Amino acid sequence: MNKILVTGGAGFIGGNFVNYMTNKYPNYSIYNLDSLTYAGDLTKHKSIEDKPNYKFINMDITDSNSIFSLFETEKFDYVVHFAAESHVDKSIEDPSIFVKTNVMGTNVLLEASVKNSITKFIHVSTDEVYGELDFDPQTFFTEETPLNPNSPYSASKASSDMLVKAYHETYGLPINITRCSNNYGPFHFPEKLIPLTISRVINKEKVPVYGNGENVRDWLHVEDHCSAIDLVLHNGVDGEVYNVGGHNEKTNIEVVRTIIRTLNANDNLIEFVQDRLGHDKRYAINPDKLMKLGWEPKYNFDTGIKQTINWYISNKDWWKNIKTGEYRNYIL
Ligand code: NAD
Ligand code: DAU
Repeated sequence: MNKILVTGGAGFIGGNFVNYMTNKYPNYSIYNLDSLTYAGDLTKHKSIEDKPNYKFINMDITDSNSIFSLFETEKFDYVVHFAAESHVDKSIEDPSIFVKTNVMGTNVLLEASVKNSITKFIHVSTDEVYGELDFDPQTFFTEETPLNPNSPYSASKASSDMLVKAYHETYGLPINITRCSNNYGPFHFPEKLIPLTISRVINKEKVPVYGNGENVRDWLHVEDHCSAIDLVLHNGVDGEVYNVGGHNEKTNIEVVRTIIRTLNANDNLIEFVQDRLGHDKRYAINPDKLMKLGWEPKYNFDTGIKQTINWYISNKDWWKNIKTGEYRNYIL
């Protein structure tokens, strides 16, 4: 049986990945390690928490003593590393925690992985490490695009990518780095554009759109990100980077208007507000390398956003408990 340590499995993408892997591979043991910051929420694992192949570990990745002793005791085969501070706006307000968690925390996990001869370390990174593209629709990020991050968040992720590469080159740690575009889907924390817009439109509240709303993001349904990581975990060529994206580029204002239309609300809910500092203009992924490995997304933006809006309509308790802070009282 394979023992897989998933860090950040109480968050949005890690949480979906833990559910996906626990259900898909009953013969693997899935260990979800998370320190339950404001973004960590265990209610998303209610359907798997009693399964024999799932276990939660409350631990901070920057706590090197605890991490080293956990690795020695458990002898994991694989590490899939999601744990991070992930919100760009928060990184602009307070960069330090991003350096601590995303850079120092990753280094602790890498050290523990080398010491314990982990079979594969998957580092879940982001397209934001490449910086921004201009609005020419023919330009894309490839795996060869130089790293050129612009926000404290993306700079901390780029630093962690460099550490992962260095541990591969120096100590021979078997690694892959995945760089995905913007995710959306169930259990997305309502600080981010899509869940914030859906929850606010349902509540008939104003939706803040930064600047002129013309910045472009390339959206991928979280289930498609999970299947991409599953594939890289099993078939990724050692040491390689894989970009993940499904060619779903939209301006922010298009995304917001689509949600408003789908919920039969009115555009007068849109409020243009001050722009984000250093706001990256456009992201767009070329996923050819991953597709050659055998990956194909299941959703396009139209099908994915409908599924997601329906999920938020059917799961109001989940996001209302997040907004009130009630989720923090849930103990596994
Ligand atoms: P998230 O903020 O929803 O979840 C992060 C999780 O990490 C939370 O459960 C939190 O409690 C945990 N965590 C934070 N600090 C920790 C620490 N010190 N020790 C242990 N656990 C800690 O983030 P997300 O959106 O699910 O992103 C997950 C990963 O995917 C991140 O590494 C992010 O950079 C990357 N990523 C995100 C997107 C996106 O669109 N959200 C796209 C590409 C890549
Ligand atoms: O590209 C991958 C990245 O996508 C991940 O690495 C990050 O962890 C994830 O948070 C996301 O970053 P973004 O900054 O692109 O996502 P966010 O949802 O915060 O913003 C999407 C776009 O919408 C961005 O151009 C800013 C804009 N925006 C955001 C918010 C929260 C608004 O106009 N209004 C808002 O209220």
